[in-house]
Amino acid sequence: MIAFTDVDAFAKSFAALDGVFDAPPPLGDPVDLLAHGLQCADILRGRYPGDLGLQLAGLVHDIGHAVGGDDPDHARTGAEAVRPLFGDRVADLVGLHVAAKRYLAATEDYELSEASRLSLARQGDVMTPDEVTAFAAGPEAAAAIALRRADEDAKVVGRAVPGLATWIPRIHDYVRR
Ligand SMILES: [Fe+2]
Ligand SMILES: [Fe+2]
Repeated sequence: MIAFTDVDAFAKSFAALDGVFDAPPPLGDPVDLLAHGLQCADILRGRYPGDLGLQLAGLVHDIGHAVGGDDPDHARTGAEAVRPLFGDRVADLVGLHVAAKRYLAATEDYELSEASRLSLARQGDVMTPDEVTAFAAGPEAAAAIALRRADEDAKVVGRAVPGLATWIPRIHDYVRR
């Protein structure tokens, strides 16, 4: 399994997501994984300008699709791919993003894209009440839910957002800490 240890290698792999889809629509979302990550990071930067870790987790949250994870497992695969470079918080948020979707589907009238609705069943479906309680008690539950809301909003075909080059210096800043 791929795990990133330096920013250049990460940037190269991430840039290669241009034109790569999690699955063809309607099973997958209509934007490619590069655009989806960039949109998600940009949304989180607007909503949580002081939380660079959350923004970066949004940027990389679906990288598991690109490093060999099958759909139900892509959160965990992605988390382990980014952990050596981005650290535990970003990795843990990436790892929680599918659980956050299952949580939101269980606790509110949560509107999902067609692709997200179809994949939810493969990912374990809505959480049981016990799972809801356990998830909500986690230290990063609020951030994971914020990421997942941005995830759902980051599927707009043709939306212009800052490119990967904008994020590279921020990644360097973050991983130096
Ligand atoms: Fe995902
Ligand atoms: Fe996503």
